Amino acid sequence: MSKILVTGGTGYIGSHTVVELYNAGYTPVIVDNLSNSNIKILDQIEKIIGIKPEFHQFDLCDETKVMSFVKTNPNITGVIHFAASKAVGESVEKPLKYYRNNFFSLLNLLNAYNEKKINFVFSSSCTVYGEPDVLPVTESAPVKKATSPYGNTKQIAEEILQETAQANNNYKIIALRYFNPVGAHETALIGELPIGVPQNLLPFITQTAIGKRQQLTVFGGDYDTPDGSCIRDYIHVVDLAKAHVAAIKLLEKGNPNGNYDVFNIGTGNGYSVLEAITAFEKASGQKLNYTVGPRREGDIIKVWGDVTKSSQQLGWNAHLGIDEMMASAWAWEKYLAENPIS
Ligand code: UD1
Repeated sequence: MSKILVTGGTGYIGSHTVVELYNAGYTPVIVDNLSNSNIKILDQIEKIIGIKPEFHQFDLCDETKVMSFVKTNPNITGVIHFAASKAVGESVEKPLKYYRNNFFSLLNLLNAYNEKKINFVFSSSCTVYGEPDVLPVTESAPVKKATSPYGNTKQIAEEILQETAQANNNYKIIALRYFNPVGAHETALIGELPIGVPQNLLPFITQTAIGKRQQLTVFGGDYDTPDGSCIRDYIHVVDLAKAHVAAIKLLEKGNPNGNYDVFNIGTGNGYSVLEAITAFEKASGQKLNYTVGPRREGDIIKVWGDVTKSSQQLGWNAHLGIDEMMASAWAWEKYLAENPIS
């Protein structure tokens, strides 16, 4: 079966995608420099699928290594490119780190496949929409000026991909615009593994519930939303992983929309931070220690996706709801408490 290169395959979304690719009959090959992930995730993946996936440790910013990898792995037919820096706050402090990591890796990969037919799936983000004027937001909504270097790398990367696909028929590309990925695999053997203090909501919730953090602060309770907290479209990471398999399949079949396409990957439902907390308390049976604090700079007030295009043209739908997201995130946190991965 086809070999698919998964860059960043030991990371949060990457590891779940490796599992789903394998389940769908593909052979995933991981490249990761382990800058924000742990080698032990390979053992965890093995516990789920029964084999340890092929793994290569190197930095995709190293052009010589990328060239040599592509040359020595001629039977790879698709690339799913996750490897990138993704912390919004850090990107404001270290913009060059973000432009370097996120662009050098992308450009090296694209260059290396310049003369070979390749299916390419890119991790983009709903951050490209900024604060949308119309909700739910569709793929044709305008791209708004990015509020962070991280967001800017996603916007510019989409442009690079579109122009590359237009110029050279070898590239068949899909960018997936993720909403907010949360949750963990049903086995609780893989999940999100934040290094240091989590910046995202769900790991902060589960770490507070397990006692690693004292209290969660809800960033803002005075927004123009029904309960005053921000609204997001949370998407289960396993559904998100399956969207990548669907994208590879569409590219293999031939995408009638052409060489470059974008899809929203969410559930189409918005939940406020307070609703997410309530859902977590229900799924876990834990009372969460939280307080409502000041707003976080740069936060979008409300965003959720129109997923009609993904449903109709990608043939993909989210199946797991907020209860499964919360229950699986909690099961993973409890697993980690018993079986630390560090
Ligand atoms: C952010 C980025 C998104 C990126 C993602 C990657 C923006 C606008 N969005 O998503 O592009 O792909 O990170 O990780 O920069 N919250 C709290 N308390 C906390 C943490 C979060 O109340 O301790 C709230 C936030 O205010 C927000 C929601 O939880 O309303 C989700 O926050 P988070 O998980 O950080 O994701 P985004 O900011 O939506």
